[in-house]
Parts: sequence; C-alpha cells; structure tokens
Amino acid sequence: METRNLFPYLYPMNKVTAAITGVHAWLPEYRLTNAELERMVDTNEEWILSRTGISERRILRGEGLGTSDMADKAVLGLLEKTGTKPEEVDLLICATVTPDLQFPATANIICDKVGIKNAFSYDLNAACSGFLYALTAADAYIRAGLYKKVIVVGADKMSSIIDYEDRQTCVIFGDGAGAVLLEPTTSGNGILDQVMQSDGVGRVHLHQKAGGSAKPASLETVMAKEHFVYQEGAAVFKWAVVKMAEAAEKVMQRNNLTADDIDWLVPHQANKRIIDSCAERVGLPSEKVMLNIQRYGNTTNGTIPICLWEWENQLKAGDNLILAAFGGGFTWGALWLKWGK
Ligand code: UT7
Repeated sequence: METRNLFPYLYPMNKVTAAITGVHAWLPEYRLTNAELERMVDTNEEWILSRTGISERRILRGEGLGTSDMADKAVLGLLEKTGTKPEEVDLLICATVTPDLQFPATANIICDKVGIKNAFSYDLNAACSGFLYALTAADAYIRAGLYKKVIVVGADKMSSIIDYEDRQTCVIFGDGAGAVLLEPTTSGNGILDQVMQSDGVGRVHLHQKAGGSAKPASLETVMAKEHFVYQEGAAVFKWAVVKMAEAAEKVMQRNNLTADDIDWLVPHQANKRIIDSCAERVGLPSEKVMLNIQRYGNTTNGTIPICLWEWENQLKAGDNLILAAFGGGFTWGALWLKWGK
C-alpha cells in the first residue's frame, strides 16, 4: 500500500500541533429580514436571495454596545464549555475590523470583561480572512511551545460601519461573534497545513475611506459617508471566486488530499455563489459544505467560527476540514485541520 506523506511542509509526524478543543459563538437576537430591507432601500427579496443567498442577518442593537459585547459572550461560553478557568488562558487574539475603539485593542477589553488576567491579547485585522490569519498565529505560538491555551475570537459589529441607505452593501453584512480554544496535541489532529496570502492592490475595491491616519475623521468625512464600508462588489467577487478556491486547492494538493478525503469545507460566508464555486472547484458536494449565510449574512470575522459552532455536533475526531476565506486587502487563505484533540 502506498504510504502518503501527509505532512510534507511544516508539520512533521509526532510533533506538537494546535488542536481546536472547543468552540462557541454568540449572535444578537434582532433579525434584519429581506422584507425589512425592501422598506429601507430599493431592493427586493428575489435579488438578494439569488445574488447572495441571504435571507436575514442579526443586528446588535443597544446604545453603547460594541464588538466586545458579543465576543465576551462567545468567550465566556467557550470557557464554560471547555472547563477552562480564565486565569489559565495564555493568549487571546481577536480578529475584527470593527474594534470597540481605535485603541486599546478589543482583545484587551474582552479579556477584562471575562476575567482573563494572566494573558496577553491583541487584535488582528485582515478583513474577512482575519479569523484564519489569527488561527495561523495561534498555531505557530503553540507549535513553538510558547503557549498552551490560546483563544482566537472572530467578531464584528458590521452594522456599525454599514450605510443603511446603500443597497450594495447593507443587504450583505450582519453582526456576530465566534471563538475557539486551541491547545497542543501530539495525536495527529489539529492544524496540519495552511496557505495564507495577501495583495494590497485590492485595497481600492474594498475599504473604509476615512477614520485612519491618512484621512482622520472630520465633519467632511462624516458628511461624505466615508466611515462606511465601500465595496466594488463585482471586482471583489471576481478575485474571491478565484483566490479562495485556489488556496483550498493548493493546501489539498500539496498534502495529497482528494475531495474524498475531505469531510467538510468551512468557507467564509460572503456570498453563496462564491461558496458554491469554491466547492465545485475542489470537487465537494453541497452536503460537505457548511453554509449558514442565509441566516446570518456576512459577519466578516465571525463567519468561520460560527459555522464550526453550528456544525460542532456533526464533527467527529479525525474529520478533515478545509477552512477557506477571502477578504478586503485583498487577503485570502485556506487551512487544513483535523478535528478533535
Ligand atoms: O467578505 C468580503 C469579501 N466580499 C465579497 O466577497 C463580496 C463579493 N461580491 C459580491 O458578493 C457581489 O458582487 C455582490 C453581492 C456585492 C453584488 O452582486 P453582483 O451580482 O456582483 O451585482 P453587481 O454589483 O454587479 O450589480 C448588478 C446590478 C446593478 O444594477 P445595474 O447597474 O445592472 O442596473 C446594481 O445596481 O444589481 C444592482 N444591485 C442591486 N439591485 C437590487 C446592487 N445591489 C442591489 C440590491 N438590490 N441590493
């Protein structure tokens, strides 16, 4: 029988890998439906469903509530589920594009809210690929033997940067948070390989025009609506369909994985058409693809951990998962993970 080298790159056999040992998520109650959006902008249910696959999205309502007010609940649930004491956590990384404040990091705020006191924490911004980038960072710390309990949070209050008069963006995005715990294992499970990339040429197609150091907030920037998401949808779409699938294909090919070896594709939920195209390119049937965009829209950094949380009961130890994302920057990547400790 042919012996396959499953770890030809960075991850030799019998070495420590980083396993996801728990997952939890939190979504706000309020459901913004397509019918409600029809009353707000010139759109219709048929267009939204056929072009994006989205039926409704959750919106965090309440004065003064930010991303950390969803992330803290996801992390508290995660600590409880995994029997982890807050003081045992070594590091928390929060992937977000909608931090509570420009600084300090939302990760610092989350740690304070949930009682994580013996850790360091920071935010990571890679737009919709942020959760995957943060997983690769956590993986590297764990494989280097530096830390034993690392939490990665993906959370965004996208409604705080969406113009609800812009039909091109307001139908797509929603709010939500998910979190995973990563711990070292020598079982052979865990994160086994990843391909991450970025290309700054994409910044013109998807960004927030003002509020950064190049164009600080002013009365003019507010009046010109420059603090909202600006997206040239078609241009982003063209890149996303190619790059997300390319990354997934690359990580599979270089580990000799065929579609039959893969139990689940866990794609960033930006558009059902992008997800379908990615699944088709890597040869996976829809039953093996996690898809919940119809219920939550695009929660940016929340999409992948929210999927893992929703499908958790169907996942078995040793299942091969391919996680894939594409986002502003442009940023993209794919990661091969064997589920379970
Ligand atoms: O997650 C981060 C990365 N982001 C993505 O991956 C998003 C990628 N892009 C997309 O998902 C899609 O491009 C969108 C869903 C944003 C847009 O879908 P599309 O099929 O690319 O539409 P389009 O922008 O090419 O617009 C087609 C038409 C236009 O009308 P005309 O010019 O043909 O008359 C738009 O004005 O659809 C119109 N349109 C709408 N019509 C009804 C745009 N938004 C809407 C709307 N309702 N909400």
